[in-house]
Amino acid sequence: MTTFEQILPRLTEVLKAHQKTVDLLEWLLINRDLNGRVRLIVPEAIEMDEAIRDQMGLLAERLAAQLGPHAYPAEAAILYETSRELACQGATSYPLERFSHVWLLDRLATEGNWAQIAAETQGSRRVVFFSIKGGVGRSTALAATAWALAQAGKRVLVLDLDLESPGLSSSLLPPERQPAFGITDWLVEDLVDNAAAVFDNMMATSDLSRDGEIYVVPAHGADPGEYISKLGRVWMSKGRADGSRENWSARLQRLLADLEAEVRPDVVLIDSRAGIDEVASTCVTDLGANLVLLFALEGSQTWSGYRILFEHWRRAQVAEAMRERLKVVAALVPETDRIAYLEGVREHAYEIFIESLYDEIAPPPTEAIGPAPEDKQRWRVHQLVEGWSFDEADEGAPHAPWPVNWHRSFAGLRSLQGRLAVIDAQEVKAIFGPLIEGVSSILDTENVDV
Ligand SMILES: Nc1ncnc2c1ncn2[C@@H]1O[C@H](COP(=O)(O)OP(=O)(O)OP(=O)(O)O)[C@@H](O)[C@H]1O
Ligand SMILES: [Mg+2]
Repeated sequence: MTTFEQILPRLTEVLKAHQKTVDLLEWLLINRDLNGRVRLIVPEAIEMDEAIRDQMGLLAERLAAQLGPHAYPAEAAILYETSRELACQGATSYPLERFSHVWLLDRLATEGNWAQIAAETQGSRRVVFFSIKGGVGRSTALAATAWALAQAGKRVLVLDLDLESPGLSSSLLPPERQPAFGITDWLVEDLVDNAAAVFDNMMATSDLSRDGEIYVVPAHGADPGEYISKLGRVWMSKGRADGSRENWSARLQRLLADLEAEVRPDVVLIDSRAGIDEVASTCVTDLGANLVLLFALEGSQTWSGYRILFEHWRRAQVAEAMRERLKVVAALVPETDRIAYLEGVREHAYEIFIESLYDEIAPPPTEAIGPAPEDKQRWRVHQLVEGWSFDEADEGAPHAPWPVNWHRSFAGLRSLQGRLAVIDAQEVKAIFGPLIEGVSSILDTENVDV
């Protein structure tokens, strides 16, 4: 019995058995179609070469035998294409492990593929608040961070991209300040080239900030209206004048650029949707985030979810593009046994970072293990020489959590807006301090031109 999970290992075996034939090809694409069936795409020139064609025929037969329902019959298994770029259009593609010129074209029914990572933005810093599970205090922490950064005189732009369960804006804006439109309206109007009709009315400033400003862009306007009908259209791609298509994520990036040009924020805080979801994929991988916060409750559900995501990044060979901007946030840290709880988060986060995202490096010399500054210095040298990895105890490592404390004054709140209106700096620091300091620290570093 062959199931989806056997496709890649068996395919790899077959390709290895036919390595000589594979080496004759300039490139080879493995097309895994929407139904999870595999075909091979090879350069057009091969069609004229009888010897290679015969060899490819044998390979296709073996593949059909090995993959069963997950392969096309050998006689229909090979496609010819003039260029690799052309064949890759509209699909997620990444190099197949252990081969230098073989790519997997993975055609998904969804756009969110989690594997194409946009380079970090060079403009305003963008911070994405993500969690694998919902209800972990992500939006509350975002609102508190916005509050604290504004108190420190920063211009903060807040985007509610949790379109399917919106609500962040109501925590930062009282009802009378809600703008008429939101992100959903812009995405829908943009489809008919009418985005200008809503752009000036989709943002409001929060009255919570005293020194800096918080600009809030909600998911929907004061009156959501036909929200479900609009939401069902935001994912649409849009035709360009040159005949190509701009997908929804590219449209969203355009909106973000327009908002940044208008507000000129120091930082953009983005409330992403929870889970392995299309909008979350866009927030985490497409928006050029400088920092992606991974909110985590201690527990096996959290780590098995993050493991799936990290393994996908490792397999798609994009771990390097992603790992330096990740940071774990220990969410809702309980009042009792705090230290043991945080140790658990650190340990389990370390396990999956080391498994999938950190480089494998030789164990450090014993004199590099320890809390003293000179030990840390020795560790850094070891790391620089050996690869990108961290000691489990390293506070600066992505897996080392910034804690957000559970606090009864935030539990089961009726109005977060009301709560933030009366909060003071000491309280915010006691609950969200390390998170706020961490986000602030990325604002202090200058953009590096590349
Ligand atoms: N630090 C905290 N201490 C105690 N309770 C909190 C804290 N932060 C948030 N809460 C409460 O936890 C619940 C969930 O918070 P919030 O809506 O911020 O989570 P979320 O991760 O954004 O959820 P969702 O995935 O549904 O968007 C709310 O009732 C909120 O008041
Ligand atoms: Mg939320």
